[in-house]
Amino acid sequence: MKLIDKIKRIKNSKRKLVCLTAYSKPIAKILDRYCDLVLVGDSLATAFYGMKSTREIKLDTMITHSTSVKKGLTKSILVFDMPFNTYKNIKEAKKNIREVFRKSRCDAVKLESNGKNFNIVKKIVESGMPVMGHIGYTPQYKKTFKPQGLKQKEEKKLILDAIKIERAGAFAIVLECINFKTAKKITESINIPTIGIGSSNVCDGQILVIDDLIGLSGFYPKFVKKYANLEKILNNALKKFRSDVIREKFPTRSNTY
Ligand code: KIV
Repeated sequence: MKLIDKIKRIKNSKRKLVCLTAYSKPIAKILDRYCDLVLVGDSLATAFYGMKSTREIKLDTMITHSTSVKKGLTKSILVFDMPFNTYKNIKEAKKNIREVFRKSRCDAVKLESNGKNFNIVKKIVESGMPVMGHIGYTPQYKKTFKPQGLKQKEEKKLILDAIKIERAGAFAIVLECINFKTAKKITESINIPTIGIGSSNVCDGQILVIDDLIGLSGFYPKFVKKYANLEKILNNALKKFRSDVIREKFPTRSNTY
């Protein structure tokens, strides 16, 4: 069975999809044991490069990181997040996405929805390149952070958008920061898996930014759970290293040629 079909099948099973972002081979190698899907998110911009917005990341930089992530994966699906402005019309989308598939050997791409670009999703899927949708709080198109789907009008539009993305042929949809009642209605309205981030446990799966989960990003909104505190672990290790170097306790004879 194709990897993408495996993800689609989860919809009707009892098991939730486990998804995370990764930006490098060493992390991807660890994630591969636990994840169904690994996303090279455009959050690379903010989480890794310290940029102010995900809009700043360039396609080539994303490809470099995706190539690294691919080397760490043996079983998980690799999804490539198309950066802002790289899929603004069908011609550019096809050209850029073909390049992404060729260079990074990803299994699928993710396209953020601007509420209009359904036909681009359709054309890319028709060209044989699997697409994952993304609705709700879509950082490439929405300037200020705000939970989505709280108003009736917003909810209606989100449900309709999800249906249109499914009809366009996407194999899954990320729901970002959508109110749980709306996320439930969306999940029940479509036959492809919904993958939530800040959209409650009603979704068919969950995704988080890896740096948030391991306590390295310094950014912990309500929807994040810090499962480890790597900042603390690194601080302790580095304190010891500094002290050992200063007190000439490192390197020892055993570290010497
Ligand atoms: O770039 C990203 O990390 C995302 C999130 C939804 C996981 O798109």
